[in-house]
Amino acid sequence: MTDTVIDYGAEQAGVEEKVEALLGQMTLEEKVGQMVQISIDGPGREKAEARIRAGQVGSVLNTYGAAEINHLQRLAVEESRLGIPLLIGNDVIHGYRTIFPIPLAESCTWDPDLVEEAARIAAEEATADGTHWIFAPMVDVCRDPRWGRIAEGAGEDPTLGAAMARARARGLQAGDLASGRRAVACPKHYVAYGAAEGGRDYNTVDISERTLRDVYLPPFQSAFRAGAGSVMSSFNEIAGVPASANALILDQILRRELGFPGIVVSDWNAIAELLNHGLAADRAEAARLAALAGVDMDMVSDCYHCHLADLVRQGTVPEEVVDRSVRRILRLKLMLGLFEQPDVDEAAAAAAILRPEYRDKALEIAQKSAVLLKNEGDLLPLGPEVRHVALFGPLADDAYNVLGCWHRIGRAEDAESLLDGLRAVLPPEVRLVHVPGCDLEGGEAAEMERAVLAARDADVAIVAVGEAESMSGEAHSRAHLGLPGMQQALVEAVQATGTPTVVVLMSGRPLVVPWLAEHVPAILQAWHGGIRAGRAVAEILTGAAEPGGRLTAGWPRAEGQIPIHYAHKNTGRPADLLGPVVTDTVNTSTYIDESYEPLWPFGYGLGYTRLEYSDLAVETPRLGLGDTLAVSVTVRNVGHRAGDEVVQLYVRDLVGSVSRPVKELKAFRRISLAADESRRVRLEVPVQQLGFHGPDLAYVVEPGAFRLWVGPNAAEGLEETFEVVA
Ligand code: NOJ
Repeated sequence: MTDTVIDYGAEQAGVEEKVEALLGQMTLEEKVGQMVQISIDGPGREKAEARIRAGQVGSVLNTYGAAEINHLQRLAVEESRLGIPLLIGNDVIHGYRTIFPIPLAESCTWDPDLVEEAARIAAEEATADGTHWIFAPMVDVCRDPRWGRIAEGAGEDPTLGAAMARARARGLQAGDLASGRRAVACPKHYVAYGAAEGGRDYNTVDISERTLRDVYLPPFQSAFRAGAGSVMSSFNEIAGVPASANALILDQILRRELGFPGIVVSDWNAIAELLNHGLAADRAEAARLAALAGVDMDMVSDCYHCHLADLVRQGTVPEEVVDRSVRRILRLKLMLGLFEQPDVDEAAAAAAILRPEYRDKALEIAQKSAVLLKNEGDLLPLGPEVRHVALFGPLADDAYNVLGCWHRIGRAEDAESLLDGLRAVLPPEVRLVHVPGCDLEGGEAAEMERAVLAARDADVAIVAVGEAESMSGEAHSRAHLGLPGMQQALVEAVQATGTPTVVVLMSGRPLVVPWLAEHVPAILQAWHGGIRAGRAVAEILTGAAEPGGRLTAGWPRAEGQIPIHYAHKNTGRPADLLGPVVTDTVNTSTYIDESYEPLWPFGYGLGYTRLEYSDLAVETPRLGLGDTLAVSVTVRNVGHRAGDEVVQLYVRDLVGSVSRPVKELKAFRRISLAADESRRVRLEVPVQQLGFHGPDLAYVVEPGAFRLWVGPNAAEGLEETFEVVA
């Protein structure tokens, strides 16, 4: 992997002088113009172009394609007074034209290098086509699968989230792209957006500052450390103050504590939405609050455009506040090389997309992100005795929904459905019958009957069910997380024929599928797997590829368990009675009508082989605050196939000045083992990463006893102890 990420913190030769020279020539209106981002269809094309010519626009979003972007850049560079190029920002969430699995799926690879490669390919395609500001990675920790945007992130855990955030920021900002351009990443949504009450998008967030710092900030910090040059302030409020006017998070934490040098852009219309939050009485006040809190750029609300210059003239916003933001924006434009080369090569853009090696990478990631949830009696992979396969389900021949939410310019015509994939990989002598059986959200009994008839004759039934791409992503939260429409009835009907049944789930979130878990022998979670999803799943089902993905968010048994996450607190009356004191064995932190445990825990996933852990050794049982915990374990492949494992290390700080989670992931490694291979795996954790924000909210590692587990998921593992001494 390349190390040549842009260091937005470093001064580059001449940049500061150029920034000051430009700033010195700018009128107040031109300065405010730099702080304004528009979408062309907001003001309408004619007005938008006039505003660009007048130097009233610093950035454009939601515009795709080299020719159109070159046209807009020419307006800014050749026809505005100072010729300052535009920042062109777009959502490139899991690929530009080569659509990879949704980010939640990618995180299930537990392979940051691979995720970095995908991000880099996205940046190659996007920059060649004129986009150089990428509104990603989405690094919101999320413990609530009702929230549709869980699809866009890396799941429930801050440590894994931080690893993925770093990987994505590095990939997006790679400094040696073949396009000859570079992009700036924009980690979002700053901050705690994933903690929306009830899992409803945009909803109130009211968490403690400790949780904010321990859980929601680490992935952002990790992206910043990797050099991410911008950040997007979120829609939500945090304990009463919307993020886009929140001085604690934007000024105190971001600027003063983290020393973030890049630019802050609001989320879409979020400055105007300060009125709806009830924080500002009018748009002028909203502009003032956001500017003073530290939002450098206003995404489309036009509150800055209409009011910021007046606010400066009235003296309610110091001009220095505007100057500071403009400096950051100009600095970024200079560092991206936009002044030297504002436009892109239109002919090269077309050749830069969907290259064969990008499609291969999409296949590899789709394979590695799929999670085998159940495989009773080793039904999978399908063996040579299977001569007749019946394929069902509304997602069986669907090359569109596999693209997932936020696929933007991704196209179904670039993608393979599962049916395409099976046709390509099944030997010609195997009979393949396809009957959809029902729709994603509806269907008819007659179609279901046809499916049942087809299932009866087959050696194996494969049912591809789940969610449409439009059921997750922004503003697509769900209260019911089962299979929509008649899909479960279809699975039940097929299963009732007695033909061995495999369910392939395709979704943008963890689902609630206890019936499937109990009754269906084999379940593969394939997510919305991108353009190669169909091929990837077909190869896994037939054994040409091994399933090795692991869940990065636990799956609930019932919606009523949500939020459910492995790193919960023990409470005074733990459900599992595990604590030094047992008050009562009945009155514990459980449900009277449901288990307290997830259906499948964080970190969980099966393979086609069997692995055993042994000989856990803590090399460093007593550690000082500056030391590094070193642990090794033997992982043995006791099966007869090669397979992957994600070795996971969890710790628990047993006694702290504030209560600590029962387990926290601290290290992990994905490994591949040949049949019968055994490997000693060593994991390290600097003691400084074992801390938390204490009673005074300062980060502290407290000496004392710790427990640790190394194993295949958050619920299993070999156990040891170690001690941190002062
Ligand atoms: C709103 C979304 O919350 C954000 O993720 C996205 O980047 C912007 N719109 C721009 O499309």
